[in-house]
Amino acid sequence: MNKNLFRRYMAQASDFDPFIIDVSHTEGVYVWDKSGKRYFDFISSICVNNVGHRHPAVMAALHEQMEKYLHVMVYGEFIQQPQIDYVARLCSFLPPTLQKAFLVNSGSEAIEGAIKLARLYNKRAEIISFRGSYHGSTMGAMSALGDTPIHDRFSPLLPQTVLYEYNDLGAIEKITDKTCCVIVEPIQAGTGMTVPTVEFLKAIRQRCSEVGALLIYDEIQTGFGRTGKLFAFEHSGAVPDILCIAKSMGGGMPIGAFVASEELMLLLESDHPLKGHASTFGGHPLSCVAALASLNVIVELLPCLAQKEARIRKWLSEIPQVRAVTGKGLFLAAHFSEDFDTNRLVERLMSSGFISFYPLFNHSAMCLTPPLVATDEEIDEAMLLFKNVVQSFI
Ligand SMILES: Cc1ncc(COP(=O)(O)O)c(C=O)c1O
Repeated sequence: MNKNLFRRYMAQASDFDPFIIDVSHTEGVYVWDKSGKRYFDFISSICVNNVGHRHPAVMAALHEQMEKYLHVMVYGEFIQQPQIDYVARLCSFLPPTLQKAFLVNSGSEAIEGAIKLARLYNKRAEIISFRGSYHGSTMGAMSALGDTPIHDRFSPLLPQTVLYEYNDLGAIEKITDKTCCVIVEPIQAGTGMTVPTVEFLKAIRQRCSEVGALLIYDEIQTGFGRTGKLFAFEHSGAVPDILCIAKSMGGGMPIGAFVASEELMLLLESDHPLKGHASTFGGHPLSCVAALASLNVIVELLPCLAQKEARIRKWLSEIPQVRAVTGKGLFLAAHFSEDFDTNRLVERLMSSGFISFYPLFNHSAMCLTPPLVATDEEIDEAMLLFKNVVQSFI
């Protein structure tokens, strides 16, 4: 019945059926459906619930703020303490060139803001991104999407957007004094947690600086402890000019941001707010207090993430069908043979109470991105389930 209503009223994001869960409630690493069935959320609702579902610290912060105020004014017009408290804490973990944030509601919006900022900076048109990347579904972010057949459905998109091979040093010389910005994920999710070489990321950084193009990092999935460090750029030390964050930022609440230097962010200021960037709900106070609580939890979790990664990798090493494991931290993908039917595997895992999914552009891999709060016992229980389902899979 509910499924019929869901189909009747909700515009659908996809046409596949088996993934539907009629959600009853959630807690920690679990989602329950209305029949009482419990699922281990091993993809953290696509890298959102890094602190698990309804973390007590997030819930407490939300309750406290709810008693004070909700929305009061479009972003940037009134002083809202939750916004300042959050950004100040966030920036305390970021390098000196990333010290000012514009708060938005989503990852796509963060990418849009970053592209606009890059345009204001060098007034150039060309946007470089990489095959296999996903940066959001708005027209600008979509122009940088690394899959041309999808572009074709919506073209014309932003002009002068070009795609190169991810992790290919040959792409570096294509960044020229005509390039406005380069948008890159420091670990590419859509192809199955592809980790580029440090050399590749450093070469992009250096080339962007040489030619005056801005380097935009999409850390919308990789941010907030997901890869074992607070931000994935820390693995290579190549610092972007603009950092885009969202997803797990709000501990389950909607929020995103693009973060840059004071000098760059000044470009947004002018005699009319619409000449820069605007957002009604960007930095909603509820989202900001949740984000602060979530950030504090994640910072405490960082030291034990390597051990959790090792635990999952050990389980995967015991499954003969898993040919390779890519990624870092709890941002992992298990790769199978090309003809492995991951669609059916997702179904089987779901019916066994294990939520996972394949990467957007790679249907022979499965994402393993559990909440960072998952205990050893929870990881063991879930991975045993995963192992049994994969091994009994024909
Ligand atoms: C790497 C990456 N960038 C951008 C986005 C877009 O974020 P949102 O869906 O919040 O607009 C996503 C969403 O999945 C993403 O994974």
